[in-house]
Amino acid sequence: MTTTPVLASTREELRSWRAQRPGRVALVPTMGALHEGHASLMRTAREHADTVVVSVFVNPLQFGEGEDLDRYPRTLDADLELCAAEGVDVVFAPSVEEVYPHGVRSERAVTVDPGRLGEILDGESRPGHFTGVLTVVAKLFGLVQPDVAVFGQKDYQQLALITRMAGDLCLPVEVVGAETVREADGLALSSRNRYLDADQRRAAVALSRALRAARERASYGVPAARWAAMSVLKAEPAVEIDYLALTSTDLGEAPETGEGRILVAARVGTTRLIDNMPIVFDRPSVIERSIAPAGTATAASTTHERSS
Ligand code: PAF
Repeated sequence: MTTTPVLASTREELRSWRAQRPGRVALVPTMGALHEGHASLMRTAREHADTVVVSVFVNPLQFGEGEDLDRYPRTLDADLELCAAEGVDVVFAPSVEEVYPHGVRSERAVTVDPGRLGEILDGESRPGHFTGVLTVVAKLFGLVQPDVAVFGQKDYQQLALITRMAGDLCLPVEVVGAETVREADGLALSSRNRYLDADQRRAAVALSRALRAARERASYGVPAARWAAMSVLKAEPAVEIDYLALTSTDLGEAPETGEGRILVAARVGTTRLIDNMPIVFDRPSVIERSIAPAGTATAASTTHERSS
C-alpha cells in the first residue's frame, strides 16, 4: 500500500496533527537513511496501532567528538518513499533547532541520566551517547505522545535503556523490541553498512559469524562460547574488536546456565558496527571440561572482553 505520509517539520505541525488523531499511535524513532530493518519496525508498529509515526532526526547529542555526525547519511527523499511504501501516516522530520531550541549542549538544558547501565559496553566507548539517546527519545515521546514505540533489538543496550527509562520515569508508552533484520550472509542491517567498501563488507560478516559460533558452543559453558566467538573475530584482520560481552538478558553478569545475550562491537575500517544475539548457556560436564580447548574450561571470571 502506497500512501503519501503527512510530513511534519515543526512541533506545531505535529501537535495540530496529533490533536486530530484518536486511536492508538505507534512511533518508530529513526535517524533516517532508512532500510529494510526500519521497514520491518514500521510493520511491527502497524500491528500495534491505528496510526504510525516515523521520526527522522539525526540527533547531535548522541554523537561524541570525532564520531560520524557530519558524514551520517541524510536521505530524506528516499526515506519518505520508503515510509510511503510502508503506509506510514506521519513523518516527523524536525530541524536541530526545533528539537533543541536552546542549543544542543546548553548548560541549562535538562537531560536524561541513563545511570550505570549507560556506562558499560557502548557507553564505555561512547561516553555521553546514551544521555543523548534517552534525552531525544524522551522529547519524541513528549511530542508524539505515542501509545507504543518500536525499536530494533540490534541496538540491544539502547532498547534496554529506553525500556528502563519508560518504566522508571512512568512514561505512558509501551516499548516494543523488534527482531534484527539481516542480509543473506548474516550481516545485521545498519545505516552505517553503506560506509563499508567491498573488502570491509566481506570482513564485517565476521561479527554475526562470531555470535553464531558462540551460540553453537554455548552448551559447553560461557568460556567456551566466548572462545568460539573470539576465534572467529581474531581470524579476520580487518576487524578491530571493541568489546565482546556475554551477559544476562538484562546486561548483567552472564548466568552459568539459561538465557543470556552475546554482544559485539568492532571497527571495520573507520566504521563502528555492533551486533548481538540471544544465547542459551549450559554448564559443561566434567568430561566436556577435560576436552575443551585450552583457555576455555575455567570458570567465567570475566564476562566482557575488550581489545585494548
Ligand atoms: O536507534 C536510533 O536510530 C537512534 O539512536 C534513535 C533511537 C532514533 C535516537 O536518536
